[in-house]
Amino acid sequence: MVLFNQASFSKLKTCIILLCILLVDCQILESASQSLPLVPNILTFIDQRLALVFPIIQNFKKTITSDPLGVTTTWVGPNICNYTGFYCDNPPDNLTATTIASIDFNGFQLSAPSLDGFIDRLPDLALFHANTNSFSGTISPKIAGLKYLYELDLSNNLLSGVFPISILNIPTLSFLDIRYNFFTGTVPPQIFMQALDALFLNNNNFMLTLPNNLGNTLAAYLTLANNKFTGPIPSSIGKASSTLREVLLLNNHLTGCLPYEIGFLKNTILFDSGNNLLTGPLPYSFGCLEKVEQLNLARNMLYGEVPELVCALGNLVNLSLSFNYFTRVGPLCKKLIKNGVIDVRQNCIFGLPDQRSVKECRAFFLIPRSCSHPALFKVVPCKIPPLWKPHVKTQSHRHLLSYSALSRNRVL
Ligand SMILES: *[C@@H]1O[C@H](CO)[C@@H](O)[C@H](O)[C@H]1NC(C)=O
Ligand SMILES: *[C@@H]1O[C@H](CO)[C@@H](O)[C@H](O)[C@H]1NC(C)=O
Ligand SMILES: *[C@@H]1O[C@H](CO)[C@@H](O)[C@H](O)[C@H]1NC(C)=O
Repeated sequence: MVLFNQASFSKLKTCIILLCILLVDCQILESASQSLPLVPNILTFIDQRLALVFPIIQNFKKTITSDPLGVTTTWVGPNICNYTGFYCDNPPDNLTATTIASIDFNGFQLSAPSLDGFIDRLPDLALFHANTNSFSGTISPKIAGLKYLYELDLSNNLLSGVFPISILNIPTLSFLDIRYNFFTGTVPPQIFMQALDALFLNNNNFMLTLPNNLGNTLAAYLTLANNKFTGPIPSSIGKASSTLREVLLLNNHLTGCLPYEIGFLKNTILFDSGNNLLTGPLPYSFGCLEKVEQLNLARNMLYGEVPELVCALGNLVNLSLSFNYFTRVGPLCKKLIKNGVIDVRQNCIFGLPDQRSVKECRAFFLIPRSCSHPALFKVVPCKIPPLWKPHVKTQSHRHLLSYSALSRNRVL
């Protein structure tokens, strides 16, 4: 009887395992060498790049759990450029090649547990639009490898996790829309260093303070509304004066006083920080928002006078100051209250209709309140037009992109 000692037995085991691996390898090699030439015979792709993404799309298709519009029924065969939602173009690195350059799934209502292993593996993707689907999971860090990506719209899905920081490594990205998802945690300051034109983050669960460098953004559209942001509006916001056109901060938990630097935003047509916990006076500098049409500061704890300079803004269509604690308005403001441009309901301006009760106002002013740098509140950092210039504008038919961003199904 031959007895193996423990050591030689384990050597034998290793040998057997190695032999098995070799055999399996040979089998794989053999079957690969058989099937490889078969693939082009069955499916003929107009470009090698399409052949490479074909299995990626088919694998993604297998993960789709709901497709009420039946779009994936078109995702068959080698003519990927004809699949519903997929668009081909010549990639920048080879203008004779054909590749998947953009995907538009807007409104498709597809459900899938993840986009991982799909968009991050379509190397030439420049646009991905997927408003109103039910994609879940988090965004793969591998998305950073998409060197041509410049529009990413994941709005109105079920995505969660922290801000997809891998996006910060895509230098070409200019449009980022992740509104109406379940992202949480903080917004990384690096996002405001990226050359984005538009950043839509509204209706998520983002929290904590807004990064101090917010004003470094080059974005024209910035929507941070309907999150759980706390702390003050960063005074750096004034740095965005040449680019920022629309900014939505409404429905958060922002505190502190309105930074005087907001008045530098001479190209801003929409500023909305309604329904927060902002306090202090309305800075005179707001009288420098020469292009502003919609200015919403309603439902905060602002107090003091409404500067006549602000009521003199020539493009004002709607200034909402309701549900604050303002105490005084001048003749110019009164005129605009009468014609409906300014709303001061539920303040402490006695003599005007629909104000808070004396008791409520007294209780508010019993608590001492102050802002740092109080002298700045009366500084006017621009040349102001004569106050007697008649206010002509009372309505605007301008399409405000940021307000559209507050509708979940709207494609921007
Ligand atoms: C794509 O579809 C169109 C019409 O739906 C058809 O005319 C065209 O031949 C198709 N192209 C390919 C490559 O299958
Ligand atoms: C460009 O793409 C075409 C079509 O796929 C291919 O035949 C050609 O080899 C590519 N050129 C380079 C330089 O990769
Ligand atoms: C003015 O703005 C407020 C706050 O955004 C809004 O509730 C109101 O509907 C607007 N009024 C008009 C006439 O657009």
